[in-house]
Amino acid sequence: MTATMKAPLQAVNETALAMHRVQHAFDGHTVVKGVDLTVAPGEVVCLLGPSGCGKTTLLRIAAGLETLQEGSVSLQGEQIAAPGLRHVPPEKRNVGLAFQDSALFPHLSVLENVAFGLKHLSVKERRERAEELLSQLGMANYMTTYPHMLSGGQQQRVALARALAPEPRLMLLDEPFSSLDARLRDRIRDDTLHVLKKVGAATLLVTHDPEEAMFMADRIALMRDGRIVQTGTPRELYCSPKDPFVVTFFGEVNELEGVVEEGHVATPVGWVPAENIADGTTVQVMIRPEALRIIERDLPVHAHAHSHIVMAKLLGRSSLLHLCAHGENGQEAHLHARVPGVFLPSEGQPIDIHLDLSQVFVFPQDSQDSMPQV
Ligand SMILES: Nc1ncnc2c1ncn2[C@@H]1O[C@H](COP(=O)(O)OP(=O)(O)O)[C@@H](O)[C@H]1O
Ligand SMILES: [Mg+2]
Repeated sequence: MTATMKAPLQAVNETALAMHRVQHAFDGHTVVKGVDLTVAPGEVVCLLGPSGCGKTTLLRIAAGLETLQEGSVSLQGEQIAAPGLRHVPPEKRNVGLAFQDSALFPHLSVLENVAFGLKHLSVKERRERAEELLSQLGMANYMTTYPHMLSGGQQQRVALARALAPEPRLMLLDEPFSSLDARLRDRIRDDTLHVLKKVGAATLLVTHDPEEAMFMADRIALMRDGRIVQTGTPRELYCSPKDPFVVTFFGEVNELEGVVEEGHVATPVGWVPAENIADGTTVQVMIRPEALRIIERDLPVHAHAHSHIVMAKLLGRSSLLHLCAHGENGQEAHLHARVPGVFLPSEGQPIDIHLDLSQVFVFPQDSQDSMPQV
């Protein structure tokens, strides 16, 4: 081969962020325990988990705000941190940062804040780039405004535009919407998602909110107590959860207990398959509220020993039904069913209950304890 051979093309597709076996301790207390995490070019990855599980620490290691203690961190294939050997400082990493309460420069206008990091461009180019991003984030009418005149939500939009302006190799966002009230948050999330996708920014977004993660993410890495429990698309985590913690983290579930007999578990709502679990094993059966299909029965109200409605509440987009499920074997259970729209049968209404098995999960009792919702 000749010396004129071009650089290999795959360099262009290099993983935006690769963290390998990252471990981190504060005062001898390990809070990040051997984490592997990647973000592909243009991909939005959400690091999701309960408060205190180590998300911010991991993000700060990627940003260079914490010194790497163990493992390795690469940006676009370039190793930027190696314990005791190498630490590229944050400002040299070409990453865009935005946090829950990102401080803007108070003495600079909105436009100047966003153009600030673009020193390498001409004045005209800086202005154009800043204007474009601010427009995409709904801030076209505030270019000359000063930060103290903006609402919290508007300040977050400017902070995002400022982080995106220099076309960073990686965007690192730590709970950027969590200080905003719900309705405003939904709009900013939506605008942010569209801008990130439009500019094709590789993004690692930290959140404790499962709905936010599902809304924003191409992939979710769910973390618990310093470890990543499961990584996958929102659908993979929701529909094929690896353990009870993953199930409960995405919302309320009905939990029942049973014993496997001939590959099945008897529950008050019928037999549930327990694949690959030995007969005689005590199992936890987790039934999502939307897995329960309710059919009203034309029986005398309060029919003896029949499943029935205990209470029905309209939650807005869905109705929540409190049920008493009565099994063939005499077992009873109080369950919650969630049904789309307005469906409010009266108290005592006899019902049949059908199970959508794709929203039912069975785990051996000794698998990771489920945790309460945060
Ligand atoms: N600078 C620090 N010094 C000591 N302990 C810290 C420091 N930063 C974080 N921690 C601890 O590390 C753990 C993980 O924190 P953090 O990464 O902020 O979690 P999360 O972002 O998931 O809420 C927590 O127990 C927290 O108290
Ligand atoms: Mg945090």
